[in-house]
Amino acid sequence: MSRPERSILPEGAAAGTLRQTSVSHIAFRVPDVANAVDFYNRVLGMQVHSVLADGGFRLGWGEGHHVLDLLPGDKALLHYGFEVRDNGGIDGIRDRLTDANIAFQAIDDSYVDAAVGPVDGIVVHDPDGNEVHFHSAVCRQGEHSADTGRRPIKFQHTTIGTPDVPRFVDFFTAVAGFRISDQLQNGHFCWMRSDRDHHTLAVVDVGRGGDIDHYSYDLAEWNDFKAWCDRLTDLDVLVQWGPGRHGPGNNLFVFFDDPAGNHVELSAEMEKFHDDRVEYVPRRWKPIPQTVNLWGGQTPTWRKVDPEVRA
Ligand SMILES: [Fe+2]
Repeated sequence: MSRPERSILPEGAAAGTLRQTSVSHIAFRVPDVANAVDFYNRVLGMQVHSVLADGGFRLGWGEGHHVLDLLPGDKALLHYGFEVRDNGGIDGIRDRLTDANIAFQAIDDSYVDAAVGPVDGIVVHDPDGNEVHFHSAVCRQGEHSADTGRRPIKFQHTTIGTPDVPRFVDFFTAVAGFRISDQLQNGHFCWMRSDRDHHTLAVVDVGRGGDIDHYSYDLAEWNDFKAWCDRLTDLDVLVQWGPGRHGPGNNLFVFFDDPAGNHVELSAEMEKFHDDRVEYVPRRWKPIPQTVNLWGGQTPTWRKVDPEVRA
């Protein structure tokens, strides 16, 4: 019997190159910036780091690198970023982009906070045209310590919606150096890692590109979910999905929306991968609701269930 392919999705030659790379920041246009800033301050405990030139605000925790840019306009994803702490990581991405004839630019100083030190980085576009930043290590003072129930530990992952999962996965594994952790059997959802966490980036087929499906912040532990759900209720923020536990990643989750309608996830207990000790083969999850919600099988209201799941 022949051995099955390692993955049903294309996993490019550079897969696994990045092992110390995490999400860094994300930027949205939102119709009401003041309302969104107030929301991220009250609900997620973020502080304004700086005022941006075109009427936007830069937010984060502590005095380190920022997490979120909010700029005025119709709801849109502006860019998403990764902090590459791997030795030679940025140079490697640069080389692979050059080999693949994909255009990129040096990261603009305006994306970097003065407090975090000099940064080497690039700006490139993913296969759907979304702007992606890869930058070198920055100081993140003030993160990685939760004020239980009031602010998460860190920005944890971004999940992008796309019409073409294989193309997206090929770019992030062949060029950027991510590795596939899990996938749906039908290839319509893929979870990718770039450090020990099961996924720092995921991609789901939503029939179109140009926006996130959701993005996620880490809580410390399960007990925090109780405090968060009660607090969200006190703040008149409705829970949109969960609490539950995902199959891929095994992480606990609960979802709510920001005022612009971006789906925000809180998660904990994400599976860790120790690639230096064992060779993992990406699993192939059934495209059924129980895959994304082991406890109850419900899917989020905004995400269509594959027609084959209904059969
Ligand atoms: Fe997620």
